[in-house]
Amino acid sequence: MSLKSIIYDPATNNLEILDQLLLPGVTKYVKVKGVEDGWKVINKMQVRGAPAIAIVGCLSLAVEMQNDKIETKTQFRREVEGKLNYLVSSRPTAVNMKAAAEELIDMANQLSKNELVCLEDMRHLFVSRIQQMLEKDIADNKAIGDNGAKEILSRVPGDSPVRVITHCNTGSLATAGYGTALGVIRSLHSMKKLEHVFCTETRPYNQGARLTAYELIHEKISATLICDSMVSALMKSRNISAVVVGADRVAANGDTANKIGTYQIAVVAQYHKVPFYVAAPFTSIDAKISTGDHIVIEERPDREMTHVGAHRIAAKGIQCWNPAFDVTPASLIAGIITERGVFRPEQLKEVLANENS
Ligand code: MRU
Repeated sequence: MSLKSIIYDPATNNLEILDQLLLPGVTKYVKVKGVEDGWKVINKMQVRGAPAIAIVGCLSLAVEMQNDKIETKTQFRREVEGKLNYLVSSRPTAVNMKAAAEELIDMANQLSKNELVCLEDMRHLFVSRIQQMLEKDIADNKAIGDNGAKEILSRVPGDSPVRVITHCNTGSLATAGYGTALGVIRSLHSMKKLEHVFCTETRPYNQGARLTAYELIHEKISATLICDSMVSALMKSRNISAVVVGADRVAANGDTANKIGTYQIAVVAQYHKVPFYVAAPFTSIDAKISTGDHIVIEERPDREMTHVGAHRIAAKGIQCWNPAFDVTPASLIAGIITERGVFRPEQLKEVLANENS
């Protein structure tokens, strides 16, 4: 059984998330009773990872809208818009929550204008759309996994299994299931084409050491943990086939925001001629921003750097700079692996233009 970060039961309108702050030591689910709880669990990073943030945010709204005492369609539309904009403010860098919010606000606008749809239908259609997002994310991740596995294997001469590096956590815990970059690794593993995966510990929040390592062990995938500072030495000595990471937002030119440290891995990969891939749902591509310069980078509290859990590791009084993400320039990216296929960054402009035509 794969790990489940989100449990949602539409029949009882119950939403729970696996508290990722407590992993790997403690497995505890936390109830999310509405939008206020949704905002808090996302902001505190009890749930994290771009797709999981969007799904939990939207499901927290679905839970609330089923209980709410709304009396008119106009009121429903207004509430939806306000609450979604609030959820978008929980973490600014990932595009997924913003993209889902725009889609749902648009849907609420359309439904509120449609005279054939009553308030109860509107509520039902709205909540069903959110439930579909959960299912679509898993299906998309499986397609990303297969597309990525084929792409990486096509770059490796001969038929031998590959050795891959990944960063942060992009697996079942960061999505509705299966994962994006970790989905690619999962697909390579099930094709018996993965020799080994190296996961970085991903300082300062240790998503790699705490969460990816946990998932890899759970899946019985042959894996080794490395410190972030070991990537160059590893590439020089271990014949790495590819790097595959996730994304929080991809600009129209292919520049990609992902977990802090991604950029330096991409630089090192180029130096060692190791192909560097980004795996993400197509909706992570934000056609509205031309380059990565327009991506807002979240800065997190100093405490995530100075402490590990309750234990202080940094000298008292030191100043900290803690950006949660960085932007990898498109020129360092060999391909963006999506459920629709693998795109070279320079192809994105045309793909996005066809999308809107
Ligand atoms: O701060 P986090 O843990 O939410 O950052 C997560 C990442 O950067 C992931 O690589 C990204 O969200 C993709 S998750 C499928």
